[in-house]
Amino acid sequence: MTYQEAYRKLEEYGQLHVLKYYDELDETQKQQLLQQVDETDFSILKNLQHRDAAFQTSEIAPMPAMELDEINRRRDEFTGIGLDAIRQGKVAAVLLAGGMGTRLGSDDPKCMYDIGLTHPVYIMQRLVENLMDVVRQAGVYVPFFIMTSDKNHDKTVSFMEKMNYFGYDPSMIWFFKQEMAPAADYEGKVYMEEKGRISTSPNGNGGWFLSMKRCGLIDKVHELGIEWLNTFAVDNVLQRIADPVFVGATIASGCASGAKTVRKAARDERVGVMCLADGKPSIIEYYEMTPELMDAKNEKGDPAYNFGVIMNYLFREKDLERIVDEVLPVHIVEKKIPCLDENGNPVSPEEPNGYKFEQLVLDMVRELDTCLPVEVDRAREFAPIKNKTGIDSVESARELCRQNGIEL
Ligand code: UTP
Repeated sequence: MTYQEAYRKLEEYGQLHVLKYYDELDETQKQQLLQQVDETDFSILKNLQHRDAAFQTSEIAPMPAMELDEINRRRDEFTGIGLDAIRQGKVAAVLLAGGMGTRLGSDDPKCMYDIGLTHPVYIMQRLVENLMDVVRQAGVYVPFFIMTSDKNHDKTVSFMEKMNYFGYDPSMIWFFKQEMAPAADYEGKVYMEEKGRISTSPNGNGGWFLSMKRCGLIDKVHELGIEWLNTFAVDNVLQRIADPVFVGATIASGCASGAKTVRKAARDERVGVMCLADGKPSIIEYYEMTPELMDAKNEKGDPAYNFGVIMNYLFREKDLERIVDEVLPVHIVEKKIPCLDENGNPVSPEEPNGYKFEQLVLDMVRELDTCLPVEVDRAREFAPIKNKTGIDSVESARELCRQNGIEL
């Protein structure tokens, strides 16, 4: 892209400040900035004008989950169906690890975080160990796809190499990168992270299927005969991956997707909750829950919106193909965004200073029309690490690991 073309594109979106330091850049930096302007989708910034409109216009109703008593009654049946599918190579794991993990405050990818006390226990190690339980039970390796982003790809890949993939079969692991989106201040002006570089951040965990498709990995999925993709977050160190019971229950239900859920610990717990939005299975975010929804009861007298998602979903691949061209909603998330101050010096803000734009995996559930929410025991399966201390932290996850007999 030429300077004139970049100027016109930036002018159209009200972003001419991107060229403020252009004359100070050397030739290579100039070319890199023009290329970045060419590749950046500034139209995403328009979402600031109609924030969170989707849920405001939807009619919300409760969605029951398959509860633990039923699962326990049918455990053998579900385990059999799940193990069969895994043994036939129909189930793959997809780790969504492209996030920045800013709340944890480490410069390294979150999967490299060491939660050990007496010896190193990395978050990635815990995930691989959990997946290995299923590998041992099924007697086959589960294909394992790992999503990273521009910001953490190289470190993640070299960490896994250095750690010998924590004993996993490297020929069954594939890495891929997700796409990036610009980050902006509260007025919708994109930040610059360097004089010749627009601030970008990973575009949320919802773009994983499209990213897999674009890099050719969905061809690999077809070649291997994979029918189900189990996507999960990096930060839950008790995460059960390719869990035969969950896989079996979802397959038996005939639904296009399944969502692991936990019974909420408090009416205002900060988890997204399964619901029906305009009759379709959806997840309502905690900040969208009104007091009426929090206090609503079902016919058993239990809270009607009581099953929080833990970012562990199973998707039928051929149904994802059906919705791949649907445009997922863009969520606007307030975050700390490294940027330049008014004198052009780089700063790392202590407090949120703007917006990132993210598509979320939970919106894929809605697009797919059918979903089985499956209750799991939160004390055994839910130990998310979002923060250093307090709720959902390294401390709370360590305690949950201890309760589950995991030595740290
Ligand atoms: P979070 O919502 O906790 O976001 O991610 P985050 O960016 O990692 O953390 P903070 O908010 O900056 O502290 C939930 C899961 O989604 C993945 C994360 O890696 C994590 O597994 N994720 C998030 C992506 O893969 N890509 C993204 O763009 C965002």
